[in-house]
Amino acid sequence: MRRSTRETKSKKRPISRPSGRITKKGRRSAQLYRQPPELQLIYDTAPVGLAFLTPDCRYAQINQRLTEICGISVADHIGRSVRQTVPQVADQVEKIVQAVTRTGEPVIGIEVHGQRVDKLNADHVWITSWHPLRKPDGSIVGVNVVAEDVTERKRAEATLAAAQKALRELNENLEHRVRTETRERLQIWNVSRDLLVVADMAGTYLNVNPAWKATLGWSETELLGKTSQWLLHPEDLETTRAQIDNLAAGRTSPRFESRYRHKDGSYRWIAWKAVSNQERIYAVGRDITDLKEAEGELRQTRRELARVARHTAFAAMTAAIAHEIKQPLGAIVTNANAGQRWLDRSPPALDEVRDTLKHVAADGLRATEVIQSVRAMFAKGEPTENLFDVNELIRETIGIVGSELDAEKIELTLALAPQIPLLPGHRAQLQQVMLNIVTNAVDAMRDISDRARVLTIRTAPSNSAGIAISIEDSGTGISSENVDRMFDAFFTTKSNSMGMGLAICRSIVEAHVGRMFVSPNRPHGSVFHIVLPGDH
Ligand SMILES: Nc1ncnc2c1ncn2[C@@H]1O[C@H](COP(=O)(O)OP(=O)(O)OP(=O)(O)O)[C@@H](O)[C@H]1O
Ligand SMILES: [Mg+2]
Repeated sequence: MRRSTRETKSKKRPISRPSGRITKKGRRSAQLYRQPPELQLIYDTAPVGLAFLTPDCRYAQINQRLTEICGISVADHIGRSVRQTVPQVADQVEKIVQAVTRTGEPVIGIEVHGQRVDKLNADHVWITSWHPLRKPDGSIVGVNVVAEDVTERKRAEATLAAAQKALRELNENLEHRVRTETRERLQIWNVSRDLLVVADMAGTYLNVNPAWKATLGWSETELLGKTSQWLLHPEDLETTRAQIDNLAAGRTSPRFESRYRHKDGSYRWIAWKAVSNQERIYAVGRDITDLKEAEGELRQTRRELARVARHTAFAAMTAAIAHEIKQPLGAIVTNANAGQRWLDRSPPALDEVRDTLKHVAADGLRATEVIQSVRAMFAKGEPTENLFDVNELIRETIGIVGSELDAEKIELTLALAPQIPLLPGHRAQLQQVMLNIVTNAVDAMRDISDRARVLTIRTAPSNSAGIAISIEDSGTGISSENVDRMFDAFFTTKSNSMGMGLAICRSIVEAHVGRMFVSPNRPHGSVFHIVLPGDH
């Protein structure tokens, strides 16, 4: 039997002494049962504790091994009673010895714990057996005690029991977790609004969730054991087959879409995501029919929007042309009337007629140019630009509106900087800008009677190679509430106007990478500024 370090040590320690004296009777009985030497040897070397008790519970014999229970020496046991040596177990031992001597039957398997006063082996457990020893006449002379140290076994048993308990708990725990997880997964399987399916590698459905019924109307029994073949839209058969083959070959399948037939005969768009694992295909499908329809509607709306935008651009172009040819058309009509009047003279003033017809032709040409330049503004791509002289452009513009200025009694001042650089740009478009601004100025001064009607046009170099143009009038001026809106298309304060002039001007100037703005004139009227860069 293996002995613990503790036990080995305990042998070296001085052991306690029993209480009480050894009576004569005790000594006598000890001598009475002295062992023959060979039995004594067994006693001393046996790996179990051995003792022989007289019927009155005194030690006639005890081996070293057994004294480890109480820590009292062998010699101090002999002749002493159990009550004197190990009082803690005396009651128990006396009862057993009495029972054995009375009945003649052995008592086996009684547990006794360490009894040392110093508690050194208090945690040791001994299992004891009690057998009666009889004389030849059958009378019982004493009780033989065998005590085996079962501490290690007990510990092993306890460890085993603890391990078994832990294992049992672990199993229960695991079982509980598996049950919970299964329940939770089942819950997800059941509540999922997405179609969930487990299929074999041929695509045969093995398990489907309730979402199939909710989305497509088909019951589980209608679906299981079949592939998707009979449900698919004919146009999607091939692509779906290819995806399943892909999955079966162990490749991951990207998201794919296919149409499934609803029980009511309609088709639903389903977007799939699938993986294969251990001879199974696992797929999740989402009904994206509404999304697809919305996409379709969006495409339709976009087409509609593009159409409206085209129409709007067309309407804007028409408005711009109408606006810009009003002036040359008016001039043509005026000149044609004048020509008629020259012809009506007698004799007809043919030279004047020739002169007015020249003007008509020039205005007609200008109208054509205007139309072309407006079309160029709306056309995509860069129309060609040429270098031109701004001062010359201004003089030419005045030539066009000169008669109108005269008619309205407007005083004109030109303060044109000499030596200004040529500018790159669309001459015809910029002439429209000048014409629109001057026409507005004339309109603004038409009703002015308390002061001079003055129009001043200035040019000056601006920054590097750029030119600043300003057109000043002494008209009504612009109210603060209109100043932000006057450049908007169709904004007008006039009864018979379109409100397109300044909108066209600003878009032309900005197309030339220039700036256009307005400021009040002192003491009356407004100043329109145009700044054009020399190089853009
Ligand atoms: N020199 C100015 N003095 C005062 N108000 C002006 C002047 N120029 C423009 N406005 C105001 O700005 C508005 C917009 O001018 P814009 O040239 O865009 O349109 P319109 O002259 O009214 O019409 P259209 O030019 O299409 O015949 C005018 O109706 C007017 O109220
Ligand atoms: Mg105008």
